[in-house]
Amino acid sequence: MDQIERLRWLDRTVVWHAFSQMAEYDGLIIEEAQGCWLTDIEGKRYLDAASSLWCNMFGHRVPEIDRAIHEQLSKVAHVTNLGMSHPTTIRLAERLVEVAGRGLEHVFFAGDGASAVEVAMKMAYQYWRQIPGAHGRRTKFLTLGDAYHGDTLGTVSLGGISRFQQMFEPLLFEVVRGPCPDRSRRPDAMSESEVCEYYLGEYAKLLDAHAGEIVAVVAESCIQGAAGFVMQPRGFLRGLHRLCRERGELLILDEIAVGMGRTGKMFAFEHEEVAGERLSPDFVCLGKGLTGGYLAMSATLTTRCVWEAFLGRRDEGKAFLHGHTYGGNPLAAAAGNAVLDLLHGRVGLEIIAERAQEFGSRMEELRGCSGVRDVRSLGMMGAVEMNRRESDGGIGTESSRVCRNALREGVWLRPLGDVVPILPPVVYEDLGWLFSILSDAIRK
Ligand SMILES: Cc1ncc(COP(=O)(O)O)c(C=O)c1O
Repeated sequence: MDQIERLRWLDRTVVWHAFSQMAEYDGLIIEEAQGCWLTDIEGKRYLDAASSLWCNMFGHRVPEIDRAIHEQLSKVAHVTNLGMSHPTTIRLAERLVEVAGRGLEHVFFAGDGASAVEVAMKMAYQYWRQIPGAHGRRTKFLTLGDAYHGDTLGTVSLGGISRFQQMFEPLLFEVVRGPCPDRSRRPDAMSESEVCEYYLGEYAKLLDAHAGEIVAVVAESCIQGAAGFVMQPRGFLRGLHRLCRERGELLILDEIAVGMGRTGKMFAFEHEEVAGERLSPDFVCLGKGLTGGYLAMSATLTTRCVWEAFLGRRDEGKAFLHGHTYGGNPLAAAAGNAVLDLLHGRVGLEIIAERAQEFGSRMEELRGCSGVRDVRSLGMMGAVEMNRRESDGGIGTESSRVCRNALREGVWLRPLGDVVPILPPVVYEDLGWLFSILSDAIRK
């Protein structure tokens, strides 16, 4: 067995890959990467058109991020977050608070997206138990239909996608679930604003029916990624925020897939803001692009009001009962600071928003390809939904075929059900080439 064959064999038989059928696993093994391009162990190059699962926002070996990590490495790689800190981590917290504004003044660091959501859930739960008043009945989260917030048992409980949930059903806790606010699946007679009102009406009813029982409302901002890039109707998130504010409910926004500039704004929920109406979620969860896809770090931002509920004497037992070994890791924080430098400098939000215009119109051109059911995009985040041909193996057959065709031409994409997510690094310039490969891959 030669070296390459041996690596492939080990990768199939020893490494257990996420969400993969290992009996028929056949993935790429990447040796190195430069910019938006991945090179495998045989020297074949692929455009990373999924930003290594939606997180390498600026591509690979980004000079600014590489430099920041090297500099940090020459000081210290890790200090614990329990009773210690590091200036790089403190600086990142300060800067996240600065860019977030809206009363989000405190940052809790963890290692991955699911943990950031778990942190928000537990903080919200503990919050209600530590403020005056009788809130003992608040034990349920209100979540959206087809939601996805990660793969830990807590976040799977919040999730609404049956193929991720069914297996673990007996282990999950009960939630109050609303409908999936999908902008594109509506009766022809209904306008987008009517369908938005409809969904908001349903959520208002649920909140009223469960008054005094809700720990927090949890929602992905604007796009429900794992559901297949379901786009919420414009105005939905704003309306949901309003419903929470009117009723004094806590709102957790999951920006893990959509935050940190991916949609052309720092946070996707900013697309929902109109003059005189800024959104002020109680928790914002960040991950993925937070370190430009370099290192595992996530963050949960929250307000002074929540923070203050946890203050007291040590013996009062009000401290937040949660922590992660690598929370606030300085190497990851160095990458996070470099990402913010990039978003305020070389790859500013205006540049991303401008590129997103071209990206959006090229996405729209795919609508005409046969076999395409729908095309959706926001900023530099797009998806093509393929028609499902039940006769041909059911879910994901067509999207997988498109991804295989694209791979042969040097473009790496990963299907998601019947959908092909398209998220090149926001710095990728040759969109014309990418989209010509995509339309050929779809036509074939
Ligand atoms: C919206 C959303 N929330 C949470 C997560 C979980 O993040 P992680 O895989 O880092 O745990 C994801 C991952 O795709 C996501 O898209």
